[in-house]
Amino acid sequence: MTSRSSSNIDRLRALTVVATDIDRSLDFYTNTWGLTRVADRRGSIWLRAKGIDHHVLVLEPGQQAGLVSITWGTSTLEALHHLYEQLVAASVKVEEPPRQLGSPGGGWGFSFVDPDGNLHKVVAQREDYANEEPSDTRPIQLSHVVLNSKNADQLVRFFTDVLDFKISDQTKKMTFLRCNSDHHSIAVAQEDVSGLNHFAFEMKSWNELMFGAGRLKLAGHKIQWGIGRHGPGDNVFAYFLDPDGYATEYTAELQRITDPNHVPGRPEQWIRPPERLDQWAFSDLPSAAMKNAMHSQFIRQL
Ligand SMILES: [Fe+2]
Repeated sequence: MTSRSSSNIDRLRALTVVATDIDRSLDFYTNTWGLTRVADRRGSIWLRAKGIDHHVLVLEPGQQAGLVSITWGTSTLEALHHLYEQLVAASVKVEEPPRQLGSPGGGWGFSFVDPDGNLHKVVAQREDYANEEPSDTRPIQLSHVVLNSKNADQLVRFFTDVLDFKISDQTKKMTFLRCNSDHHSIAVAQEDVSGLNHFAFEMKSWNELMFGAGRLKLAGHKIQWGIGRHGPGDNVFAYFLDPDGYATEYTAELQRITDPNHVPGRPEQWIRPPERLDQWAFSDLPSAAMKNAMHSQFIRQL
């Protein structure tokens, strides 16, 4: 599991996305994907995984699919306040000072906006669950989010210089960033659109990932990319499309980086022939639908 934070933010906790048909999305994420409904409020639905986090995904009803917010955690209330002061000092658009939250999961929190206009929330003292060892084939937690950016260098600098994330690896197109020992909790892809690329849920091991992928297949959801093992991060992957067309991934065995002197991999180290996009050379290339989903503009401008 994860250890040691290199910034005030110490984990990725949850993602909120618009669901254009919330009953359809709820059916997918509970009956097929393997999350559990824990709260409802004003039409939105909160879903948990098998890990400690109160929730990992919030479905918000809306007309147009899009990323609403990314929620990060700090380990203490003190770290939350410290981060707030750090963001104010850096002239980041911070929407409200830390306050006690009345939304499901509770705790304390505030929100800020990154240079691309993505909304981020930071929380501490959540009403989390006991840390029991997950024993079945459902996701444990949100693993990572990947954002497309028209100004990737600027967005990466925001994560490193303002939020104190560390770069784990860089390919020609993508920068992988960590806030704890997980190889990446977020990655930024240079694209000609800005917005959500995909989001991934962690499975206990490759075996649970296979059971999960099988469950999706039996329910009629074609694997859109995978099963394979990525280069940067070394994680096993299986990508699907949710009912709104979001690219959503099961992943397992993500590399943990504990060496404080870790040297990020450079783009020239990650060059592969175009027909071989995973280490095993087992996976087909991403489907056209998956490429399209990863290149969409799933962003809600504030
Ligand atoms: Fe991923």
